Amino acid sequence: MTQNNDDQAATPLLDALIAQQKHERISAHVPGHKQGHGLLSTLARYAGPLAQLDATEVPGLDDLHHADGVIAKAQQLAAKAFGTEETYFLVAGSTGGNLAAILAVVDPSDVVIVGRNAHQSVWNALVLAQAQRVSVTPVVWHALQGHAKIAGGLSVTAIQEALVCTKQARALILTSPSYDGFVSDLPAIVQLAHQAGLIVIVDEAHGVHLPFHPQLPMSAIAAGADLVIQSAHKMGAGFTQTAFLHVQGSRVDRLRLQETLRIVQSSSPSYLLMASLDAMRSQLACHGEELLNLTLTELEAQKLRLHEACQGLLVDVLDTAIQDPMKWILHAERLHLTGFELERVLREQFGIYSEYTSEYHVLLSWSYGNATRDFKKTVDALIHVVSQVPSLGRAMSWELRHASMPVSDVLHVLTLHERKAGAFMSLSLAVGHRVVDPVTIYPPGIPLLLPGETFQKEHIEILTPVLDNGIRVDGIVYDEEYQVRCLASL
Ligand SMILES: Cc1ncc(COP(=O)(O)O)c(C=O)c1O
Repeated sequence: MTQNNDDQAATPLLDALIAQQKHERISAHVPGHKQGHGLLSTLARYAGPLAQLDATEVPGLDDLHHADGVIAKAQQLAAKAFGTEETYFLVAGSTGGNLAAILAVVDPSDVVIVGRNAHQSVWNALVLAQAQRVSVTPVVWHALQGHAKIAGGLSVTAIQEALVCTKQARALILTSPSYDGFVSDLPAIVQLAHQAGLIVIVDEAHGVHLPFHPQLPMSAIAAGADLVIQSAHKMGAGFTQTAFLHVQGSRVDRLRLQETLRIVQSSSPSYLLMASLDAMRSQLACHGEELLNLTLTELEAQKLRLHEACQGLLVDVLDTAIQDPMKWILHAERLHLTGFELERVLREQFGIYSEYTSEYHVLLSWSYGNATRDFKKTVDALIHVVSQVPSLGRAMSWELRHASMPVSDVLHVLTLHERKAGAFMSLSLAVGHRVVDPVTIYPPGIPLLLPGETFQKEHIEILTPVLDNGIRVDGIVYDEEYQVRCLASL
């Protein structure tokens, strides 16, 4: 972590873009909107000044795929700020980062150990890499007096078990923090995996802020992971689709990584997106601790107010070493509401738009970009909702449970070609059959079922309220009734 370091105030890519647009008189190159002049006027009213910076690889602006000028300089500053060896700017989100990282490391038939809570981009990368997988189930928090369950991080013992069962695995792929903000014990896990000769890839899409405040959980970079992917647009102030890929140590072939980055990303990467990464890195390096301090202090104060009004509405089962304080999980069951009902009240009555909703929860995702009054207004709204509940009852307690079989067998990852087989079946007929397509509720984008996994009655119980509330589920089609594609044989 680098704070208040003089050179971190520099924004070489952003500066070069501003200088370029002032200098260039006639654009005889792409993009065709010609510094915004060709835009539809309605769009130009909002995007006009930005479009002036939507440039391409003209002299002086470097080239993301062969960086040796201002982009290289901006990436070096980022590596220094995040405390890693090399950083690559991504314009295809953490999705692109996960694809590039995994394809750079995994060869066909390699076995990889993967946290079962991984985002669909990780599973998609394994399809493209033609890998074999062993999955590890995260721990689960159960509400003792209710029905809610929340997946936590991956336990060191489960990873240890996977390493013992899986000889000659190539890589360990973890998601930390999880979508809900749970962080695994990365220093211990990375050490174990390295001792066993594995490359460690951490999808830290929800953790770009972690290196910049000492009270936040440790980032995978500091924990020694080989490849770390962070969305800049989730927990930081980057434009949507921006992300960083960090690499350190000698285990990863850097040339192959550059090649896979070229394969998965556009040959015309957006300069607006890249400039946003340059600016955000400077902001975090120079002011991150101060900005995060303000946010964390106000969040803590408002959390106490909420606890006083209704203990247990905000799920904080753990200390901040493993639960990111920037993610608030609201336990709607505490108010005798479903998550969908609570989400609707917050949105329709108070204009509060949440990150995602399940039957029992609403997830609020904060960042240093929020005005601190947002937190007070949200807690005011929640206190109002609490006041309308006739009888609250006692706060629920939570219990941590480990899966009885946390580690799967080694499984072949079905290729797209193999996934052509199968027939669509109604959800009730599908029970007991193996699904062909991933079934993924979006958000959070973690497959509920992976190809080859067996559709069970409990999946209908999970999917029905989600589908009834109009939430997108990839892998389910609607043709008079909901259907899923399954292999005909049981
Ligand atoms: C854990 C995780 N990884 C990766 C992604 C993909 O990130 P991006 O939207 O930056 O492509 C997401 C998106 O929600 C995510 O939650």
